[in-house]
Amino acid sequence: MIQNVRGTKDLFFNDIEKWHFLEEKIKKVTSLFGYSELRTPIFEKTEVFLRSIGENTDIVNKEMYTFLDKGGESITLRPEMTASLVRSVIQNNLTQEYSALRLWYLGPFFRYERPQKGRLRQFHQFGVECISSPHPESDVEIIQLAYQLIKEIGIDEFIFEINSLGNESSRKTYIETLEIFLNENKDKLSNESQNRLSTNILRVLDSKDERDKAVVSNAPNILNYLDDQSKYHFDIVLKLLDNLKIPYRLEPKLVRGLDYYSHTVFEFRSTALGSQDAFGGGGRYNSLFEQLGGKPTPAVGFAMGVERLILISEQLNKFPKLNNNCDIYVVHSGESTLEYANNISKILREKNYMVLMDLQRRSFKAQFREADKSNAKYCIIIGENEVNNNKITIKNLKSGEQAEIASNLLNTIKFE
Ligand code: HAM
Repeated sequence: MIQNVRGTKDLFFNDIEKWHFLEEKIKKVTSLFGYSELRTPIFEKTEVFLRSIGENTDIVNKEMYTFLDKGGESITLRPEMTASLVRSVIQNNLTQEYSALRLWYLGPFFRYERPQKGRLRQFHQFGVECISSPHPESDVEIIQLAYQLIKEIGIDEFIFEINSLGNESSRKTYIETLEIFLNENKDKLSNESQNRLSTNILRVLDSKDERDKAVVSNAPNILNYLDDQSKYHFDIVLKLLDNLKIPYRLEPKLVRGLDYYSHTVFEFRSTALGSQDAFGGGGRYNSLFEQLGGKPTPAVGFAMGVERLILISEQLNKFPKLNNNCDIYVVHSGESTLEYANNISKILREKNYMVLMDLQRRSFKAQFREADKSNAKYCIIIGENEVNNNKITIKNLKSGEQAEIASNLLNTIKFE
């Protein structure tokens, strides 16, 4: 038997119902905030991701599905959306002067990571990006949107962590201080973090290694290095969150795993997930448009892992009872009644009833069993007698009552 690729998943029956539930909530909440959907191809020229995510990130270094196509061009299956979205916004000239561009997306993404609970090689993200506003109110708008969505889904236990990486110049000052501190403690760091000192020093701050954690607990606090402009931005973000009564936890060691961020960064975590506990993350990325060849355009956004949202909802038992709501099961006696039964089903479906009809030419008894299994409220029974007399027999499966009526009266009946 040929199996699926490790770290990928087939979705069907109950699972796909959960996805539909989530997708509906996403459509509802994004439309309440005036966001419109953007779909881009699932692969891009590799350059799009090399120029945005950062050469020294895990994604670019270890996790990208990159290949040469038959024309010799280097192509990458998208590991995240922000870079593709910025490429698309620049190319299609979607920004307008004086108004924010509000976009959302949902789709598959690909990272060659070690599969485990909540970590897949093909996973799905829902995300939003608010483009063109440099102001803290746009950071707060997307955080508010995230909170409203999480609430709509029914998740009430989670942690929201927030930090500021400041602007480029304040970050530079901080990094210089951090470099001195970490180099003084180099021997106590893990090998990976020692390597990061020269490649991606900020990532040492969110290392999960106990040795690194011990060192980092005494590291200088990035929030003490924000210059006036960066501090102003972050103070307003926090003030607006307070005003909206959106709870947050300040986490000065939160740096995120992609290099394009400045100012606000944040993550959503849940203890229901185990070690891969982040179910969403994002922040501001004011330089990415220029990095990808566009004109300077401030922006902020976040993405959430759909599989992780579903895992949390399952663990917290938050999915409403999902049933396939068959209204009417048409039971018929085989080839001689097929045309008649087909016509009855057609009329009912055109009246918006969910109708199932036997396709296996089985006995009446077996069909009634199927009708029960499908949770149908009614059966319509069609035998030779019904066909010859232009009638149908309706059976209420709850009460067991049964009645025969002329088929032309079907239009007047409400199946409730
Ligand atoms: P990210 O933190 O890399 O950010 O991914 C966002 C979310 O995608 C994670 O919190 C997690 O829930 C989910 N995720 C990531 N990798 C996997 C995986 N291998 N399996 C399952 N779920 C996964 C970004 O991708 C940024 N583009 C977010 C952003 C948008 N920043 C600004 N705008």
